[in-house]
Formats: sequence, C-alpha cells, structure tokens
Amino acid sequence: MKHNHSPVLPGPGATDYARYMRTDTLLGLQRSSGEVIHRDELLFQVVHQSAELWLKLAAAELAEATARLDAGELPPAEALLVRATLAVRLITDQLEMFRYLSPVDFQAMQPAFGNGSGAESPGWRHVQSASRQLGRAFDRQLADRGVPAADLCPADLSDPLHRLAEAMVEWDERVSLWRTRHYQVALRVGGHPPADASGSPTTMLAKLAGHRFFPELWQARTQSTAEENGIDKA
Ligand code: HEM
Repeated sequence: MKHNHSPVLPGPGATDYARYMRTDTLLGLQRSSGEVIHRDELLFQVVHQSAELWLKLAAAELAEATARLDAGELPPAEALLVRATLAVRLITDQLEMFRYLSPVDFQAMQPAFGNGSGAESPGWRHVQSASRQLGRAFDRQLADRGVPAADLCPADLSDPLHRLAEAMVEWDERVSLWRTRHYQVALRVGGHPPADASGSPTTMLAKLAGHRFFPELWQARTQSTAEENGIDKA
C-alpha cells in the first residue's frame, strides 16, 4: 500500500517534514556560497549553530530540573540533568570537526566574524545561569532537609539526594571537559601561543577549565576520602 505523503500541516514547506522541522528556514541560516569569503565558513557555522541548539536544549532541561527540584521531585530532576549533561558531551564531540580547520583558513575567515566571539554565545550564557539556579535550588533542598553538603559523601546511590549530587558533579565535570577541549581547539586552530602572558584569551580559557558550579560537592568528596584515610581535616 502506498503511503499518502501529501502535507496536512499549515505553514511554509513542500512536505510535513519541512513544515514541522522548519527546514526551509533552518537550512537558510548559513551563509550561501555567494556570500562566504571562505568555503570553511559552512563548517564553522554548522558546528556553532548546532552547538547553540544543543545548548538551548540543555538550558531548558536544567530549568525544568530546577523546577522539579523545588517541587521536591528528585528523580525527575536527576533524569533531566542527565539529558543536559549528554547535550554538553555531544557539543564536546562536535569540536572534533575543527581538527580539519587549519589556522591559515581560520585566519582567512576572520573578517566575516566582525568582533564576534564564542564568549557571546547566548546558549552558553543561558546554561551558565541555569546551572547557578540549579545549585541554589539544591542548597534550598539541603537546608530544608537539614543535610549538610559534607554528609553527601560517600554517595549512597539508593538515596535520591545523593544520586542528584552525583549527577551535579558529573555536570560540572562535563562542562569542564568541554572547556578543556575547547581550550585545545583555540590553541590548535586559533594560532594562539599556549598559556603565555597572564590575561591572554587562551590563559583565560585554561583557567576557566578549572571552574566548578558546585565546589562544595567536590569538596565533600575530598573530605570523606581524607576521613576514611584517617587524615584529620582540622
Ligand atoms: C575554531 C573554533 C574555535 C576557536 C578558535 C575558539 C576560540 C576562542 C577563544 C580564543 C576564546 C577566548 C575569548 C576570545 O578571545 O574571544 C573563546 C571563548 C569562548 N568560546 Fe570559543 N572558539 C571556537 C569554537 C567555539 C564553539 C564551537 C563554541 C560553542 C558555542 C565556543 C564557545 C566559546 C565560549 C562559551 C567562550 C567563553 C569561554 C568559556 O566560558 O569557557 N567556541 N573561544
């Protein structure tokens, strides 16, 4: 039997796939071959634009995780955070495409970018603020339950609060891994010398790789190890 593929959805596009996915608009968002000053602009825009989409998803999942956490629904909050974490892993993997972008070609594309910098990424900014909000919601839960952060380790994976704390550590680590990989890309493609004078863009990137949203959760881990080894934390 032949399937009927005639579109039923409203809106522009020849098929329902095109209408629902908005492919006409989406595929028109990259500079055309007539507009580009270098053919690798397509590679550059595809990696950045798809990263923006994954970051949009990550920020939405983080926001919903925060709402669930405030409602005391810990397992759904954890599941949503795990999705956001996978999105960051996927944008880390797609940085691999820059392996095939040479510093000479990257340099040739610069005039097309104006004063643009990845530091202005709206997706990244949303993810940053959503991460901080998640941290504050977690602190509220700890306060409500009267659990000090230091008590969360060693993780008891049968306890939803501990599981969520583990997922938050994983989130922090994945963001840091993205930053570490991105730093290497900046060195390799951007033609910057490795961590040179303090205050250079790449030195800043190297420092940011050490950033943590939830430092108290990392600290709790070290403390419990020290205690197990009989090291006095005083
Ligand atoms: C050829 C690829 C890339 C190069 C050479 C590069 C280079 C740089 C450099 C040098 C900086 C430091 C600030 C500045 O000087 O503007 C920076 C910052 C940044 N870039 Fe990239 N970048 C690349 C790809 C990407 C991609 C795909 C994203 C994804 C959205 C991204 C997001 C960011 C963010 C968020 C920052 C701020 C630093 C942070 O919060 O960790 N960059 N980039």
